[in-house]
Amino acid sequence: MRKKVSIIGAGFVGSTCAHWIASKELADVVLIDIFGGVAKGKALDLLQAGPVEGYDLSITGGDDFAAMAGSDIVILTSGAPRKPGMTREDLVAVNADITASNIEKIKEFAPNSIVLIVNNPMDTMATLAWKVSGFPKNRVIGQGGVLDTARYRTFLAQEIGCSVEDIQAMLLGGHGDEMVPLPSYTTVAGIPITHFIPEDKLSAIVERAKKGGAEIVALLEKGSAYYAPAAATVQMVEAILKDKKRILPCS
Ligand code: 2OP
Repeated sequence: MRKKVSIIGAGFVGSTCAHWIASKELADVVLIDIFGGVAKGKALDLLQAGPVEGYDLSITGGDDFAAMAGSDIVILTSGAPRKPGMTREDLVAVNADITASNIEKIKEFAPNSIVLIVNNPMDTMATLAWKVSGFPKNRVIGQGGVLDTARYRTFLAQEIGCSVEDIQAMLLGGHGDEMVPLPSYTTVAGIPITHFIPEDKLSAIVERAKKGGAEIVALLEKGSAYYAPAAATVQMVEAILKDKKRILPCS
């Protein structure tokens, strides 16, 4: 049986999640958005890339929340993104209502799904989603730590001049400015990071990783990052669907 992942919000993060899921051939995908035509159009476009890319999945879209019935995972991305100068917390007022109303739909149509929360402020939205859903805590998971860790690993690899794949790292705490880096658990192929990077440089890298989202918001001017947030989310999707027993930092 094929797995099924529904994504609420067909904006940049949602549609990029669909893209990574399709390219890794992880599951059938349903894209849902209040702008049904956008969700349907992006789903159709992605479906038509299948013959070229070699994936064979059902990818559909629209504004009908009932389409998520039977989903193994529902990814919640819809909400306003940050504008330059805003913190993630500035989005609470607008995104709380959107999250709560989407959770009601998930309760109605996909009550057995695992819900991944991606919209910001993610830690707050994940807590809200957990409370509104009444689901057990292992079925409401926030994505942020994987993304923050990916940014940290990227900057470390750039500094050292090694492969990102050889950096193992773990960051805990809230998503972004509140993250807690654990340099003692950061290694390059098992060798402590402090062997390669002096303390002041390491602190500067940690600071850059903390503000990694804001750096991209300032560059884009309209909207926030989506390739790395979506890749991080899909790493969690893959870990869950394949029951890989991964250890990933989550909310
Ligand atoms: C980020 O850090 C959007 O919160 C997301 O880029």
